[in-house]
Parts: sequence; structure tokens; C-alpha cells
Amino acid sequence: MTIYDNRTLTRRNCLTAMAAVGAAVAMPGMAYAGSHSERLDMPPLLDATKTGRFSLRAQAGKTNFINRSDSNTIGFNQSYLGPVVRVAQGETEATVENTLKMPVSSHWHGLVIPGEVDGGPHQPVEAGGTWRVTLPITQPSATAWYHSHIHGQTATQVYAGLAGVLQISDGHDDARGLPSTYGEDDLMLVVQDRNFDRRGRLSYSPNMHGVLGNTILVNGQVGRVAVVPAGIVRLRVLNGSNARIYRLAMASGREMHQIATDAGLLPEPLALHGITLAPGERVEILVDFANAETDSLVSSMISNTPMMGGMMEQGGGGSFELQRFEIDPRLSPRITRLAGNTGETLPNLNPEGAVQRHFTLDMGMGGGMGGMSGMGGMSGMEKPAENALSINGMPFDMSMINLVAKIGQPEVWSVSASMMMHPFHIHGTRFQVLRENGNPPAPHNRGWKDTALIDGQADLLMQFEQPATERAPYMYHCHILEHEDAGMMGQFSVG
Ligand code: C2O
Ligand code: CU
Ligand code: CU
Repeated sequence: MTIYDNRTLTRRNCLTAMAAVGAAVAMPGMAYAGSHSERLDMPPLLDATKTGRFSLRAQAGKTNFINRSDSNTIGFNQSYLGPVVRVAQGETEATVENTLKMPVSSHWHGLVIPGEVDGGPHQPVEAGGTWRVTLPITQPSATAWYHSHIHGQTATQVYAGLAGVLQISDGHDDARGLPSTYGEDDLMLVVQDRNFDRRGRLSYSPNMHGVLGNTILVNGQVGRVAVVPAGIVRLRVLNGSNARIYRLAMASGREMHQIATDAGLLPEPLALHGITLAPGERVEILVDFANAETDSLVSSMISNTPMMGGMMEQGGGGSFELQRFEIDPRLSPRITRLAGNTGETLPNLNPEGAVQRHFTLDMGMGGGMGGMSGMGGMSGMEKPAENALSINGMPFDMSMINLVAKIGQPEVWSVSASMMMHPFHIHGTRFQVLRENGNPPAPHNRGWKDTALIDGQADLLMQFEQPATERAPYMYHCHILEHEDAGMMGQFSVG
């Protein structure tokens, strides 16, 4: 494979290269497919499993995404996004330094830790400040992540780059027969969609439906190729997009063997041809590239707007490429057989005596919902405050605790959404999807989760294990970041 400096390409060459990518990846509105000439870089690995400590520094920088003008971006320890922080079970010291001129935070999305160290909207790191916390990690291996969570700024800060991956590792993946060589057969893919202006600079145009981008970034890069051995490769995919929902598949039709959901490993690989991944969710899959030359991880177009009523588009919408793979026969694969039992179990909490709670994810009919003016009165909903999105009709209020939960008490949260699909995330716990619209959960949702796409209604079963005081409550919210910032969020204490 020839590797040359893509930055010297002219716009014209760029377009020619895009055309060469072929119809399979063409998608309505997807602007830059890239040239597939450069290798995908992994985020730097910050291994804290031995040291028990790590530091993140929020900083401003410039990033050239599409070989045109630089964009102003923000990241942790680099100009856009942050390192993959790998932590082990036990106590880990985290330091978050903020060199920006605005408050940021670092929420550990997926960690089951006390509210005081959760990094949500009540734990801002002020401009120039430093936040030091000890994370008591007891949960099993999982691919979690971290991102800023300042109320009202989460969407813009994450869009500009303030996010990274947090891998919890017990160090036993070799014994499980799982690929674990970072960047070789264990790849991290942070998938995001972004828009660029005519000069090639990152652009963000607020939209209450949630901002969708027309260009796919993987680990902050456009159109790169991942070179992999002709064996079994583990793909850890984080949907780090503000609003886009992906329906993952391999372009070749090759099976994906799901080995993990958001919050942990499955008991054994589960062969699937399609996996839905909403903002905030993670999935780990094994793909067997034996006898392959190239392949791609693709997604079908899923539309999720109030007009569409949150319908999945099956076919017709077309598909687009997320990540291209080139199989290099000179690389010797470390793993050639699919892993067997991982030693983990599916969640099976006992729902007996559970507290039942109901949540409706409500969309206001105010002026902020562009394009919805013709729909007034259609839903029969009470009109909440103008522009406000809410849960149970209550837009998020920093000074109000919406509910109080008890440690050790099973809870069933029945969450429903009309109008659109919303990825519902709960801090401070991992949960079991009991039912989706009265049926057993979709196959890819049977493991431990912390975020679940609500397409109608779902029952989530959980039991809180960690405390969260009223001054440091946990959040629950829609993970479409524009919805979260606009008020589709609530907070609770656990004692
Ligand atoms: Cu990923 Cu409350 O967030
Ligand atoms: Cu979270
Ligand atoms: Cu939402």
C-alpha cells in the first residue's frame, strides 16, 4: 500500500478519489469519503492498569480534518478527542486539568462509581482549575468512555472534541482467547459524524432534532484504512456522535460476533448481521478476516426526526462506509479461532419487589423545533415551556432532585418515547433491558447496558450499588446531546 501525504491533494483530486470509492459507500448528503490512502491511527493508549493513576488535560488545538483549513478544536491531552485510558479494577486516581477558558467536566460514562466522582454537571472543572478524584472501580471489563458534561454545553464541547475512551480491563483477555493487542487485533473505533464549512472547518449548526453531520470521522480521522491480519480482529465501536444512530454491518455480509455491550462482556460470542448503535452506546465485535482482502464496516441510513416518527429505514435509505479494512497477509494473526465462554453471565437481576417508575421523553412543540409548526396539536401533549425538551413534562433543573433511589433496591424504569427514538442513559449503574415494547430485548441488547435506544417503550431493570448525594446526584437523560442540553434530563440521589 502506498502511503503518501494526503494534505497535498487538491480539492479536485480529492473528489476523484471519492468517486473511486464506489457506489457502495455513496450516501445522500455524505460529503467527504476521504481517499483511503492513509492508515487509521488509534488514539494514544494511556495505560493506568499498573500505575493506578492517569491525567487528562483539556486543551485547545487545531485539527485539519479534510485537508483544507484547520479547525479550532478541543481535546484531552491532544487537539481533538483524548487517549484511550485503560484502567484495572481497584482504585485509580484521575486528575483532570482544564486549560480552557470555559468550565468543562469529565464524566466517566459507564463507570459504576459514587456520584461525587461521576464528573457530571455538578462537578465542573473551572477554567484554569484541576479536579483530582479517586475512582473506586469494581465492575468487570468493559469499554466505557469519558466526555464533558457541562449543562447546556455538552453538545458543543463534545462536538468540538472533548471525549475519549475508558477501557476497564481485568487483564484476562488472553485466557479468554480474545484479541487484545492494541491497534493490531484489538481496534478502537470512535465513530462520529461532523459537518464542515466550505473552507473545511468544523461547523456546528444547532438543531433541536440533534445535529447530524455529513462526514464520518473515526478516531477523529476521515477516510482512513485500517490494516488488519487475516484472522480474528476485535472491533470496539463507540458511537460518539451527538445524534446519529448507526445500524452496523459488514459490507461483505460477513458475520459480526458480538462479544460485549456497553457495560460488559457477553457469556459467549453472538453472531449477528446487524447491530444498532445509538449515541453513547458501545459494542465490541469479533470479525474473522481469514480469506478476505478488503471489507468495510458500514451503516444503513436511519432517520430519526419527529416527522418520521423515529422509524428505522430498512433499505431504501442506502448505506455508507464507517471504516474500511485492508487485510495484510504478511501480518500473522494472533487469534484464528472464535473465543468460547468468557466466564461472564447475562444480567439476571430479580425484579421481585422492584420499585416501578415511569419516564416519558417529551418533546416540546415550541419555536425551537424547526419544521414542526404544522404538527401542532397532533400529539395531544401539553405544551411545556417554549423550546424545552423534558422528561415527564419537567425540563432539567440543576436545583431539583427528580427522584430518590435506595442502594440495593431493585428498580424497573419504564421509559417511553413518542415522536422520535431517544437513547436513554442512566449514570451510576448498569442495567438489564427486560422488555422492549413488551417483547424480549433485541439480541444485541441482552447484555449489561448503560444506554438503551428507546424506540417506543422499554423496561429497564437495575439495582444501585453506589451512593449519590443531593449535592452530587446522578443524571438520566437522552444521549442525543442537543436533547440533553435542551432539558431532556433528570437527576437523582441514591442513599
Ligand atoms: Cu455520556 Cu450523562 O452521559
Ligand atoms: Cu454517563
Ligand atoms: Cu432525545
